[in-house]
Parts: sequence; C-alpha cells; structure tokens
Amino acid sequence: MISKNMQEALNAQINAELWSAYLYLSMSMDADDKGLKGSAHWFAHQFKEEQEHARKLAGYLQSQNAKVVLAPIATVQTEWPSVTAMFEDTLAHEQKVTAMIHELCKLAAAEQDFATANMLQWFVNEQVEEEDAAREIVDAFRMVEGEKVGVYMLDQKLGAR
Ligand SMILES: [Fe+2]
Ligand SMILES: [Fe+2]
Repeated sequence: MISKNMQEALNAQINAELWSAYLYLSMSMDADDKGLKGSAHWFAHQFKEEQEHARKLAGYLQSQNAKVVLAPIATVQTEWPSVTAMFEDTLAHEQKVTAMIHELCKLAAAEQDFATANMLQWFVNEQVEEEDAAREIVDAFRMVEGEKVGVYMLDQKLGAR
C-alpha cells in the first residue's frame, strides 16, 4: 500500500507523461507539415514511448491497489519556427520531466516508500537517456543550420529510428 500523497503524485505524473505524449504528437504533425518526414517519425515514436511511461505508472498504481485517475490533458503548442526549435523544446521539456521524477524520488525517500523508490529508478535511468538523445539531435541540427542538404540528411537519419 502506498500513501495518499504518493497516489496523488503518481497520478499527476501520469498526466505529465500523457501531456508529453501530446506534445510529441503535436511536434510530429508540425514536422510532417514542414516536409520533415524523418523528424515526424522520430516524434511519433516518442509519442508512443510517453504513452508507455503513463501505462507503466498506471500499472504500478494498480498493483498497489491504488486508484488511477485520468485528468484532462492540457493543450499543447501546434507550431514551431523550425525543427531545431522543436528539439530544443524537447530537451528543455525532458529536463523539466527529470526534475519531476527527482521530486517523486525525494517523496518516496521521505516516506520510506521503498517499492515506489525502486519503481522510480527505471524512470531516473530513462530520463538520462531521453536528455542525452535530445541533446545529441539539438547539437546535430545546430551544426547544419542553414544548410538544406545537411538538414535533409539529418532528417533522413531520424527516420531510421
Ligand atoms: Fe516520459
Ligand atoms: Fe520523455
């Protein structure tokens, strides 16, 4: 059994993961509108991953006999000035999510909730990967900024994800 406090915090994180999914779906649509099929594919993949994160948390709550409450998902931005801006926003967003996960870890530690702390370790590791992947793509797009062939080739590469 987990505390009411922890239940609420994990439900809030489910909403944050679904909002992330929504954000990446929106980026996928905008990338497609910009003719960047590879980036659209990358974000569509990310959309699915974020839904999996939400499911993972929901599954954990249910295994602890706690109620999953699905709250409304806030609206997301629908257009970005460039694909570089999309990935910069991705990195900034993932850094924010990392901070949220770390807050959950602190709560688990404060409550001596060992099961939740253990479950959260997966998310701690996942966030390291998420930030690293986004940072690498931001760097790459910045390197080819203004060069159409470079952007095209990088976009193609992202399509292979
Ligand atoms: Fe996530
Ligand atoms: Fe993420």
